[in-house]
Amino acid sequence: MDTQLFNLIQAASDARMQAYAPYSRFAVGAAVQCKSGAIFVGSNIENISCGLTICAERVAMCSAVAAGEREFAAIAVVADTIQPIVPCGACRQFLAEFAPDLIIVSATLHGHQKIENLSVLLPDPKRGILEDVHTP
Ligand code: THU
Repeated sequence: MDTQLFNLIQAASDARMQAYAPYSRFAVGAAVQCKSGAIFVGSNIENISCGLTICAERVAMCSAVAAGEREFAAIAVVADTIQPIVPCGACRQFLAEFAPDLIIVSATLHGHQKIENLSVLLPDPKRGILEDVHTP
Protein backbone atom coordinates (compact mmCIF):
# COMPACT_ATOMS: atom_id res chain seq x y z
CA MET A 1 0.00 0.00 0.00
CA ASP A 2 1.47 3.36 -0.97
CA THR A 3 1.93 6.25 1.43
CA GLN A 4 -0.94 8.26 -0.02
CA LEU A 5 -3.46 5.48 0.59
CA PHE A 6 -2.03 4.83 4.04
CA ASN A 7 -2.51 8.51 4.91
CA LEU A 8 -6.03 8.43 3.53
CA ILE A 9 -6.92 5.47 5.75
CA GLN A 10 -5.43 7.30 8.72
CA ALA A 11 -7.56 10.37 7.96
CA ALA A 12 -10.68 8.18 7.71
CA SER A 13 -9.80 6.48 10.96
CA ASP A 14 -9.40 9.84 12.72
CA ALA A 15 -12.68 11.08 11.22
CA ARG A 16 -14.44 7.98 12.57
CA MET A 17 -13.90 9.36 16.07
CA GLN A 18 -16.35 12.17 15.21
CA ALA A 19 -19.17 9.81 14.23
CA TYR A 20 -22.59 10.72 15.59
CA ALA A 21 -24.09 7.25 15.86
CA PRO A 22 -26.19 7.05 19.06
CA TYR A 23 -28.75 4.72 17.46
CA SER A 24 -26.65 2.07 15.75
CA ARG A 25 -23.48 2.66 17.78
CA PHE A 26 -21.65 1.79 14.58
CA ALA A 27 -19.06 4.48 13.89
CA VAL A 28 -17.73 4.95 10.36
CA GLY A 29 -15.09 7.35 9.06
CA ALA A 30 -14.32 8.30 5.48
CA ALA A 31 -11.71 10.39 3.71
CA VAL A 32 -11.80 11.38 0.07
CA GLN A 33 -8.62 12.07 -1.86
CA CYS A 34 -9.11 14.88 -4.36
CA LYS A 35 -7.01 15.05 -7.51
CA SER A 36 -5.93 18.51 -6.31
CA GLY A 37 -4.17 16.75 -3.43
CA ALA A 38 -6.62 17.88 -0.77
CA ILE A 39 -8.29 15.42 1.58
CA PHE A 40 -11.79 15.87 2.99
CA VAL A 41 -13.19 13.73 5.77
CA GLY A 42 -16.57 12.71 7.06
CA SER A 43 -18.22 10.47 9.61
CA ASN A 44 -21.70 9.03 9.75
CA ILE A 45 -24.35 11.33 11.18
CA GLU A 46 -27.45 9.54 12.39
CA ASN A 47 -30.92 10.89 12.99
CA ILE A 48 -33.74 9.76 15.23
CA SER A 49 -35.83 9.29 12.08
CA CYS A 50 -33.25 6.69 10.91
CA GLY A 51 -34.07 7.47 7.28
CA LEU A 52 -32.29 10.80 7.49
CA THR A 53 -29.02 9.22 8.58
CA ILE A 54 -26.08 10.14 6.35
CA CYS A 55 -23.20 7.75 5.76
CA ALA A 56 -19.61 8.84 6.30
CA GLU A 57 -18.81 8.55 2.59
CA ARG A 58 -21.47 11.05 1.59
CA VAL A 59 -20.48 13.48 4.34
CA ALA A 60 -16.87 13.42 3.12
CA MET A 61 -17.90 13.88 -0.50
CA CYS A 62 -20.32 16.71 0.34
CA SER A 63 -17.61 18.48 2.26
CA ALA A 64 -15.22 18.23 -0.70
CA VAL A 65 -17.77 19.33 -3.28
CA ALA A 66 -18.88 22.23 -1.10
CA ALA A 67 -15.25 23.35 -1.01
CA GLY A 68 -15.16 23.42 -4.80
CA GLU A 69 -13.55 20.05 -5.50
CA ARG A 70 -14.87 18.14 -8.51
CA GLU A 71 -12.23 15.52 -9.30
CA PHE A 72 -11.51 12.60 -7.02
CA ALA A 73 -9.00 9.76 -7.00
CA ALA A 74 -9.95 7.60 -4.03
CA ILE A 75 -12.01 7.31 -0.89
CA ALA A 76 -11.03 5.45 2.28
CA VAL A 77 -13.64 4.02 4.64
CA VAL A 78 -12.89 2.73 8.13
CA ALA A 79 -15.14 0.79 10.50
CA ASP A 80 -14.71 -1.61 13.40
CA THR A 81 -15.75 -4.79 11.59
CA ILE A 82 -14.21 -8.17 10.91
CA GLN A 83 -14.28 -7.68 7.15
CA PRO A 84 -13.89 -4.28 5.43
CA ILE A 85 -17.28 -2.69 4.67
CA VAL A 86 -18.38 -1.42 1.28
CA PRO A 87 -20.42 1.72 0.60
CA CYS A 88 -24.20 1.26 0.51
CA GLY A 89 -26.15 1.61 -2.72
CA ALA A 90 -27.10 5.22 -2.05
CA CYS A 91 -23.45 6.15 -1.46
CA ARG A 92 -22.33 4.31 -4.60
CA GLN A 93 -24.73 6.38 -6.70
CA PHE A 94 -23.72 9.57 -4.91
CA LEU A 95 -20.00 8.96 -5.37
CA ALA A 96 -20.47 7.95 -9.01
CA GLU A 97 -21.94 11.35 -9.78
CA PHE A 98 -18.42 12.75 -9.56
CA ALA A 99 -16.11 9.74 -9.96
CA PRO A 100 -17.57 6.58 -11.55
CA ASP A 101 -14.10 4.95 -11.41
CA LEU A 102 -13.31 6.00 -7.85
CA ILE A 103 -10.92 3.73 -5.97
CA ILE A 104 -12.47 2.57 -2.71
CA VAL A 105 -10.11 1.55 0.06
CA SER A 106 -11.91 -0.03 2.95
CA ALA A 107 -10.11 -0.86 6.17
CA THR A 108 -10.97 -2.29 9.56
CA LEU A 109 -9.52 -1.09 12.83
CA HIS A 110 -7.53 -4.32 12.94
CA GLY A 111 -5.76 -3.69 9.66
CA HIS A 112 -7.77 -5.72 7.17
CA GLN A 113 -7.91 -3.84 3.90
CA LYS A 114 -9.67 -4.21 0.61
CA ILE A 115 -9.30 -2.10 -2.51
CA GLU A 116 -12.17 -2.02 -4.98
CA ASN A 117 -13.29 0.11 -7.88
CA LEU A 118 -16.64 1.87 -7.80
CA SER A 119 -17.22 0.91 -11.44
CA VAL A 120 -17.40 -2.74 -10.30
CA LEU A 121 -19.69 -2.04 -7.34
CA LEU A 122 -21.93 0.16 -9.48
CA PRO A 123 -21.53 -0.33 -13.22
CA ASP A 124 -23.22 2.08 -15.61
CA PRO A 125 -24.39 4.47 -12.85
CA LYS A 126 -26.06 7.06 -15.11
CA ARG A 127 -27.75 4.91 -17.75
CA GLY A 128 -31.40 5.68 -18.18
CA ILE A 129 -31.51 8.49 -15.65
CA LEU A 130 -32.74 11.81 -17.07
CA GLU A 131 -31.62 10.59 -20.51
CA ASP A 132 -34.22 12.67 -22.33
CA VAL A 133 -33.15 15.80 -20.47
CA HIS A 134 -29.52 15.40 -21.48
CA THR A 135 -30.04 14.23 -25.08
CA PRO A 136 -29.91 17.24 -27.42
N1 THU B 1 -22.70 3.58 7.46
C1 THU B 1 -21.77 4.40 6.88
O1 THU B 1 -21.55 5.51 7.34
N2 THU B 1 -21.08 3.94 5.81
C2 THU B 1 -21.20 2.67 5.29
O2 THU B 1 -20.54 2.34 4.31
C3 THU B 1 -22.13 1.73 5.92
C4 THU B 1 -23.06 2.29 6.91
C5 THU B 1 -23.41 4.05 8.66
C6 THU B 1 -24.83 4.44 8.47
C7 THU B 1 -25.39 4.23 9.87
O3 THU B 1 -25.12 5.37 10.65
C8 THU B 1 -24.56 3.09 10.43
O4 THU B 1 -23.39 3.03 9.62
C9 THU B 1 -25.27 1.75 10.42
O5 THU B 1 -25.69 1.40 9.16
